Amino acid sequence: MKGILLSGGSGTRLRPITHTGPKQLVPVANKPVLQYALEDFREAGITEIGIILGNKGREEIQEYLGDGSAFGLDITYIVQGNPLGLAHAAGCAKDFVGDDDFVMYLGDNILHQGIEELVDSYKEGDYSAGIALQEVADPRQFGVAAVDDTGTVTRLVEKPDDPPSNLALIGVYVFSPVIFDAIEQIKPSWRGELEITDAIQLLLDEERTIDSHVVEGWWKDTGKPEDILEANRLVLEGIDGSAEGKIEAGAEVEGTVHLDSDAVIEDGAVIRGPVAVAEGTVIGDSTYLGPYSSIGPNTEIRNAHIESSVIIGDSEISTTGKIIDSLIGRNTTIANSEGLLPEGRRLVVGENSDLNL
Ligand code: TTP
Repeated sequence: MKGILLSGGSGTRLRPITHTGPKQLVPVANKPVLQYALEDFREAGITEIGIILGNKGREEIQEYLGDGSAFGLDITYIVQGNPLGLAHAAGCAKDFVGDDDFVMYLGDNILHQGIEELVDSYKEGDYSAGIALQEVADPRQFGVAAVDDTGTVTRLVEKPDDPPSNLALIGVYVFSPVIFDAIEQIKPSWRGELEITDAIQLLLDEERTIDSHVVEGWWKDTGKPEDILEANRLVLEGIDGSAEGKIEAGAEVEGTVHLDSDAVIEDGAVIRGPVAVAEGTVIGDSTYLGPYSSIGPNTEIRNAHIESSVIIGDSEISTTGKIIDSLIGRNTTIANSEGLLPEGRRLVVGENSDLNL
């Protein structure tokens, strides 16, 4: 079995962060989102991976992942270019997949439980596809599956007004190569994309058998800034405490702290975990770093109060104003404007930013 990881798309909902990079490299607990999916592939014994690249951030993704060997994987890059839909992205992998079955994983999704059970369930029968489902409170905004009591899919509906179940399709699928014939037959939807649900529906219309697996642990699609913050909270909830860096005497540290090498918590800083601090970062005196914060590499934080936020890295933060529930991009400086007249906030803010002052 092979794997394909969808790392194209336009990431419009994550602007301005995605003005300068692909959303699949946005860090959650200081690790790029796509790395969680790659770890799930490896855990399920799937090591031949095709990475689908869009137009944005191709070089950065290739630079980060290389040939995959650092992650225990063998990676092939496949260029999709414009985001013409999930089924189009899958179709680009036809030559790479050949006659194998494959798992398709959306590169901005994180599944706490991983994919082993989904893959095992698919392998147990003679299926053309397997879909991962999760119970959701309001299925009307998702693709929804009706399944029989053996878990075989009977019907799929996209964003139904009257959902046949509360089981939503989430971002992982298993396919046999027959999916490529279906993809060749479908037409773009009203939003101009080749939809993977249309291709799966075609398999159902051809009376092929489709497996489903209900994912029990949490699942997060990190398409929007608030989703990144929520994923960060969920991942930090289960993070290991490790202190490769240095905690100075006089620093007050409680709860789980994941401190990478060359990170320093200085005397006078107050930390309440769970938090993650990446390499080369200094959490200085008079700083309060509260629960569910991830501070990326090479960042200096002084006199600040930060909670429940993701600071991507290479930044300097020395404001005494509280920073909460925030996603802060690379190379950002946030300081007090003390002594400057007229008084007020001085902002240099990029296109499509979102500020609550
Ligand atoms: P989406 O989040 O549905 O789409 P998007 O990345 O274009 O984001 P937005 O709606 O904010 O503009 O995509 C889900 C995943 O699939 C994501 O990792 C990007 C990837 N993808 C592709 O690789 N190719 C595609 O054609 C599409 C639509 C998505």
